[in-house]
Order: sequence, then structure tokens, then C-alpha cells
Amino acid sequence: MTAEQERESRLLERIQRGELVEEADQMTPEYRDNLIHLMLMEADSEIAGAFGYVPWIMKAPTPAEMLAVASITRDEVRHGRVVYKLLENLGVDVGDRVKQFDFTLRVEEKDFLGQGRAGQDERVNIFYYPIDRWSDFVLFNVLMDRGAGHQLEDVLQCSYGPWKRVMQGIMKEESMHIAHGDTWLRRLGRDPATHDELQEGLERWWPRIMNVFGRPKTRRNATYQKWGLKIRDNDAVRQAFVDDVSQVIAEAHLTMPTWTPDWNVVPEEGQAAG
Ligand SMILES: [Fe+2]
Ligand SMILES: [Fe+2]
Repeated sequence: MTAEQERESRLLERIQRGELVEEADQMTPEYRDNLIHLMLMEADSEIAGAFGYVPWIMKAPTPAEMLAVASITRDEVRHGRVVYKLLENLGVDVGDRVKQFDFTLRVEEKDFLGQGRAGQDERVNIFYYPIDRWSDFVLFNVLMDRGAGHQLEDVLQCSYGPWKRVMQGIMKEESMHIAHGDTWLRRLGRDPATHDELQEGLERWWPRIMNVFGRPKTRRNATYQKWGLKIRDNDAVRQAFVDDVSQVIAEAHLTMPTWTPDWNVVPEEGQAAG
């Protein structure tokens, strides 16, 4: 056994015993690379998400909602900052990164990315779509905050101690964002004046959110599971999300869109959600 193989089996045993990884010198290069990739995806998404919300502080329908949007935006910047700090501890040059990428970059509303990407940052690709209406902001809280919540649930059980610990506070705030979205979804969905616009928006955002979870049984997901960085397969997370969101969609008098994945289409690059 080479020194590298020995190191690898020591780390695997540690993870299988349920002991957390705490320090960089306990990692193998493969573990470190995968961990960094997942944390960059989260941190870049938090910041890109926050920047997409910024205009809605000014455009929110009431002063109470201006404050709600400002506070959600602040939460997202905080989440980004917390995860970037963990990345800095692993040697990532975060200052350089935020200078290098334009986190305000958005595609046109008509553009569909599928599992592709629009920029070089690591954000989950739904964060490339623009939020053009108040109902889009509401749908983003209902769908993406909830979808991220389901994805990040695995982090609460992951093998990297520092990430697992910050996730509890992040998840608490995400659940408030979801509740904000759900309240507005019911309000707009039950009002005949706004129902149809909301249904149209739901249908537009649905394939985008479905694509966030990635393809079933990917090699990459198997690697994440091996290292305890993810617990479930992409498809299981997607299904948990669909089961959860269907209730509020019904309560808002909306119709659940249909979605048929075509996994035969090979994405240009591995899907953001791995
Ligand atoms: Fe967040
Ligand atoms: Fe959020």
C-alpha cells in the first residue's frame, strides 16, 4: 500500500465510524477537491442569489416587504460570507474570486439553460435566471429556497465538521425565506387578479428547479456519498422536494406542472448540483 492509499483508507475508516473531518491535514486531495467544489457552489449561489434580490428591496410592494426583502438579502450575503470563510481556511483565494466573477450576470428570461451554465462561477444554474416580477421573487422563495433546503439537509449530516456546524444557522434562516414565499404564494394564488400570472410563472420556473437537482446516479454523486459529503442520490432529493412543495402549490390553488426529464441529452458540463 502506498502512503497515499494508506491515507485514503484511514480517512474512509474515519468517515465510516462517523467521526468528523476537522482539519485540512486529515483530508486526501480527492476529499478536499470535492468539498471545495460543493462549498464553492453554495457560497457562489448565496451571493448570486443575494444580488438578484437587491432590486426587489426597492421594488417590493409595501414598506414591510422592503424590509423583508432587505433582511432576506442580508441573510444570503451572510451565508455566502460564512461559507467563503471556511473556504479561505482551506486556502481558497476568495478575495480574488469575488473580483473575478460577475455575480450579477443573468440570462434573458426566454433562455433555457437545461443543465448548462452561463458563466464561469460555480453557482447552481437557476441563479442565472432573472427575477423580473414580484411573483418571480415569491416563486424563488417557494422553489429555490426550499430546493436548497432539501439539498443542504445532507450537509447537516456530512463528514466535514466546520460546514455541518454552520449549516444549522443557515437552515433556520432558509426556513424563514420559504415561509415568506409560501405566505405570498397562497395570497397571490387565491386572488383571481394574480392567479394566472402566478401559474404562468410556476410553469416557467418548474423545469429550472427540476434541473437544479442533477441527474440520477452520477459518478460524481457516488464520490460525494463515498466521502460522506452527500447522503442521498440526486433523484431522491428531487423527489423529497416535489413531495414537500406539492402541498403549498395545492393550497395556493395552483396546478402542479408536469416535467419529463430527458437524461439522454448529455449536458455540456456536469450539472451544478453534482
Ligand atoms: Fe441562503
Ligand atoms: Fe434563502
